Amino acid sequence: MSVIFSGIQPSGNITIGNYIGALRHFVELQEEHECYFCVVNQHAITVAQDPASLKRNSRNLAALYLAAGIDPDKSTLFIQSDVPAHTKMGWMLQCVTYIGELERMTQFKDKSTGKEAVSAGLLTYPPLMAADILLYNTGIVPVGDDQKQHLELTRDIADRFNKKYRDIFVMPEPRIASEGARIMSLVDPEKKMSKSDPNQNAFISMLDDESVILKKIKRATTDSDGVVAFDKENKPGISNLLTIYSQLTGESISSLVGKYEDKGYGEFKQDVADAIINTLKPIQERYKNYVNSTELDDILDRGAEKANSVANKTLNKAERAMGLARKRV
Ligand code: TYM
Repeated sequence: MSVIFSGIQPSGNITIGNYIGALRHFVELQEEHECYFCVVNQHAITVAQDPASLKRNSRNLAALYLAAGIDPDKSTLFIQSDVPAHTKMGWMLQCVTYIGELERMTQFKDKSTGKEAVSAGLLTYPPLMAADILLYNTGIVPVGDDQKQHLELTRDIADRFNKKYRDIFVMPEPRIASEGARIMSLVDPEKKMSKSDPNQNAFISMLDDESVILKKIKRATTDSDGVVAFDKENKPGISNLLTIYSQLTGESISSLVGKYEDKGYGEFKQDVADAIINTLKPIQERYKNYVNSTELDDILDRGAEKANSVANKTLNKAERAMGLARKRV
């Protein structure tokens, strides 16, 4: 049994990319591991957020975790800002991270290029993520492909701290699925599907209703050769739809390609939309119940209590190792 930690930013309604690449795997992992799942609202404020929306999105995301199948009796679900050890440890880890390492992060480059004002937090985001992971003695971090570089840096930071101060941190391993770890935009299939894409047609939100899902899939960029085949380089749009379809139904891509051999894109797209609708409908129903309940707040209170008790132990050890604790406790 390993400790699992992962987080999702409440920076908008999460997408089927987040579901396929991350959330779906969390649900499987909780059966056999000690799991911590976090709504990382302090990561979200690295870019400007409307306070009321951030508050609402954070609660909504917690409800979605539960609706997707996170069981609060098996997993610890909490909101990052409810556990102050994250920012304390984040600061300590910033001090063992080099600016050059942070500037090399592709996510930082993508989010900062061409922007007039970039927050310092956007640059120092990875040590906070390292803190999230290392506080819980995490062995496995299930994430999508885009977090690989942040995980590598987390390991470097942990190793540096362990060598320089004391051997405190467990070395975490990323777990990135071989298929579905990078779902692409429906508008520009060369780009990752992202919840912060300004074009709403580029992504399917977990809360989109049937008609919106169908419309977005029907409009999804494909190509003009009319053959349903998997070829990421030459047919990125169709390949992306095949990946989504296969991930949500469990049917292999080769079997799907065979099924649509003599069929056009219209029928294929209708079936992709149905697969998404069939997956999301029960989640959306459970979501409505959770989001309007006080049970959600009780779950988050209990989650924060458990997370605080585990995180504070690691924080204490790291503070002592660095010479920050005035008295030995
Ligand atoms: P975030 O909020 O951007 O995404 C949450 C998770 O969804 C995955 N993901 C995708 N997977 C497949 N296809 C996509 N198009 C796609 N888009 C996103 C992400 O890889 C991620 O697993 N830095 C993190 C949040 C974080 C975190 C952590 C994760 C903060 N602390 C500690 C793990 C451990 C992020 O911005 O994820």
